[in-house]
Amino acid sequence: MDPHAQASADWRPRIVAFFCNWCTYTAADLAGVSRLKYAPNTRVIRVMCSGRIDPQFVLDAFTRGADGVLIGGCHPGDCHYSEGNMKLLRRVHLLRRLLGDMGIDEQRLRLEWISAAEGEKVKTVVNDMVATLQKLGPLAFPERAAAWDLEMDEFERALAPAAALEEVTHG
Ligand code: FES
Repeated sequence: MDPHAQASADWRPRIVAFFCNWCTYTAADLAGVSRLKYAPNTRVIRVMCSGRIDPQFVLDAFTRGADGVLIGGCHPGDCHYSEGNMKLLRRVHLLRRLLGDMGIDEQRLRLEWISAAEGEKVKTVVNDMVATLQKLGPLAFPERAAAWDLEMDEFERALAPAAALEEVTHG
């Protein structure tokens, strides 16, 4: 479990899901209509193509309290805008490295290719992601960011006398 995580017994992870309009969003709709049960703790945001997803969207979701981000796009070769999903795939690789550097477990960001007909897959993926996040525990990113800010303030204060001295000697 994440060292920062302290989950209470009734804690449920919050997932922000970016779903492509042409495939995964329709599949999620199908799952709903077919009454396939998947964990309700997912906030779905519809995008016209997974290639529209800016890395900043993912970082914003984490900084605003998401415990995990799920991206659903068309299968390779099926993107309505030709290569949007492949562009996204490259961004996800970079994002994973960035998240790793920030101490965020890469399992918190998941990318899945889900076609419009795969309602069952939406259910499986969401439930599986919830189980993974439950093992990892809360990300609590906003609290971490506040702790980093405090650390940076202390760092700045500690460096202030040295910086002032340098100014006097060179100024
Ligand atoms: S249109 Fe679905 S990923 Fe591009």
